[in-house]
Amino acid sequence: MFKLKHVVLTGATSGIGIETARLLLSEGANVIGIGSSAKSCAKAAKKLANLNGTIKFIECDLSDQKSIRNLVKLINSQFTKVDCLINNAGAIYLKFQPDKIGIEKTFSVNYLGHYLLTRLLLVNLMAADEAVIVNVSSVAYKRGCLNLNELRSTNLTATESYTRSKLAQVLFTQTLAKELEGSSVSVNCLHPGLIGTNLLSKNGIIGSILTYAHKLVGRSAKHGARHVMHNVRLLGNNNSNGKYYSISKPEKLLPHALDVQKAEELWKLSSELCNLPVEIV
Ligand SMILES: NC(=O)c1ccc[n+]([C@@H]2O[C@H](COP(=O)([O-])OP(=O)(O)OC[C@H]3O[C@@H](n4cnc5c(N)ncnc54)[C@H](OP(=O)(O)O)[C@@H]3O)[C@@H](O)[C@H]2O)c1
Repeated sequence: MFKLKHVVLTGATSGIGIETARLLLSEGANVIGIGSSAKSCAKAAKKLANLNGTIKFIECDLSDQKSIRNLVKLINSQFTKVDCLINNAGAIYLKFQPDKIGIEKTFSVNYLGHYLLTRLLLVNLMAADEAVIVNVSSVAYKRGCLNLNELRSTNLTATESYTRSKLAQVLFTQTLAKELEGSSVSVNCLHPGLIGTNLLSKNGIIGSILTYAHKLVGRSAKHGARHVMHNVRLLGNNNSNGKYYSISKPEKLLPHALDVQKAEELWKLSSELCNLPVEIV
């Protein structure tokens, strides 16, 4: 069985991420957990103290490329091999906010930051005997419309911004799977279910009200975490690559998420925006 040793988990401070961290630790994994602030990292570290494995929290703003590059330097100083990367962090911004390079922030955190993190960690992932990448996307990709000329647009609704970021993760997963063919690294994406979490909380008072409502209708974060871990296991047993799972069941993607040309254009643009070569090695 695939034994998890060194895991990097984004969004480890809250919701599905903190529960995934709990499961990973109960299996004795060494986890690097990422949160957006020192405060959220410290709070989560307290909640996860005294479990089997070890967890070290590192603060990183996934909408800031400099912060991501610093994070990777720190990861490299902890472990050179990474056998599991879980790209789970996410947010929904109700009003337009630009990141440091002017990209709308929901897209920047949910997709572009994870694109950069993944590309920078590929060396560590390839150094492991076997490694898996899990992208936590959403069923929301189904409503996504991705116009690559509009990444800095101020006119999108929050739903449009969120759904396109989740579509981008699905397209990215498929291109990455192709790029990694023949290597020891595999990748999937998934929808974890409707889970009551803090996804909308970064929006002042309206965010608090919506979070309250979200928690009334959503299932517990433990459920979401189980679906994340199900995918880690599937990939670890070489059962799938480049696929989308919805609540732990494989699901055929809708045609707009299978658009190879769009996926390639997205990859190329993302590499330009992150100052990376298009080729992975
Ligand atoms: N909840 C659902 O119903 C649902 C459904 C489908 C998909 N998902 C996906 O599940 C994933 C986890 O979200 P969740 O529902 O568990 O929400 P959550 O409780 O709000 O957790 C989100 C995590 O992302 C981190 N994060 C947010 N902005 C960040 C930034 N700029 N830099 C670094 N980290 C950042 C947060 O860290 P801080 O707390 O430190 O800010 C937190 O740990 C997301 O990708 C979401 O899209 C959720």
